[in-house]
Amino acid sequence: MPFYLKAMKSNNAERGTITWQSPSNIALVKYWGKHGNQLPRNPSLSMTLQASLTETALSYQKRKEPGNGIGLTFAFEGKRNETFENRITEYLNKLLPDYPFLADYHLQIDSGNTFPHSSGIASSASAFSALALCVVSLKNIVTDLQKESEFYREASFLARLGSGSACRSVYGGYTIWGEVDKVPGYSDEFAVPLRSEIHEVFQSFYDAVLIVSGEEKKVGSSAGHSLMERHPFAQSRFRQAHEHTAELIKVLSTGDLERYITIVENEALTLHALMMSSSPGFMLMRKETMEIIERIRDFRKTENIPVSFTLDAGPNVHLLYPGKYRKETVKFIEDSLADLCAERFWIDDAIGKGPEKIND
Ligand code: PMV
Repeated sequence: MPFYLKAMKSNNAERGTITWQSPSNIALVKYWGKHGNQLPRNPSLSMTLQASLTETALSYQKRKEPGNGIGLTFAFEGKRNETFENRITEYLNKLLPDYPFLADYHLQIDSGNTFPHSSGIASSASAFSALALCVVSLKNIVTDLQKESEFYREASFLARLGSGSACRSVYGGYTIWGEVDKVPGYSDEFAVPLRSEIHEVFQSFYDAVLIVSGEEKKVGSSAGHSLMERHPFAQSRFRQAHEHTAELIKVLSTGDLERYITIVENEALTLHALMMSSSPGFMLMRKETMEIIERIRDFRKTENIPVSFTLDAGPNVHLLYPGKYRKETVKFIEDSLADLCAERFWIDDAIGKGPEKIND
């Protein structure tokens, strides 16, 4: 039985609770620059993770009188959080023209992450993906049921409106968001799972997230994206992202690890180079970030093991490697990289299957 029919058994249109767990994702080709209503300036390609998750429970109860706008209480990790509550209320209010039923309920959201709050891992992708999945599940309870593929597409669309990269977390494996030049089938409005085949080597892949610093981001996401609006290299960067996405699609199906490493590392360093050459400019790498990158490249050369790295808009390093080299790579992390991490902390993550509905 599809999950959304099962949900109808215990939840009804009067009251109920819908719970989704959604993973974070790591971009291999980076989304950097947006316009309009959260539309990307260039395509991006990501790998969905497995261990770094947000779990969100949406409880709904029919109001006696239909409300004027959204009625929401929001708790994060067991405690009411008004900052998040205001942000989510604003987000849900914007959805009202298309989701008017949301105002018919009092909503209570309880959310939490499996990764530590101060780990420097961006939680907005997993959080908005989980929330969007709850909203579309509620829509399925109060209105007509949709086909499963449409359900995920709509959740991806809604997640995008909360945080761009969140639209890619709705699916497992490799996901593309944004139209790609000369490659049909992808959209700026929602993410789509990679359509072509994935070579064996990329099906078992790990991401060790090396936490150099758990501090808050120096540049917020929206401020970061807006730096691309008047960036001198913007047009060539957007073109490059199209080329990298198209080539990475091929590389993921042929299993060409060498090109994978070249593209993925170039994307990470390009993201940081764009931030450095913005006005104002930002330097988000730390000395430990650079030392880790050097050591990863040395290890790859001396041991002939295809490890590579990528970066988010912060100092932490994502060490990417095929499952086949797990033992040697974990030893390398413990022996040579953990000392450069804050309190030797790193997250042992890997490619994941995507969100999961928890309750029926
Ligand atoms: O989704 P946002 O607005 O937080 O932007 C994410 C931007 C990067 O993480 C740097 C790149 C990406 O594609 O995820």
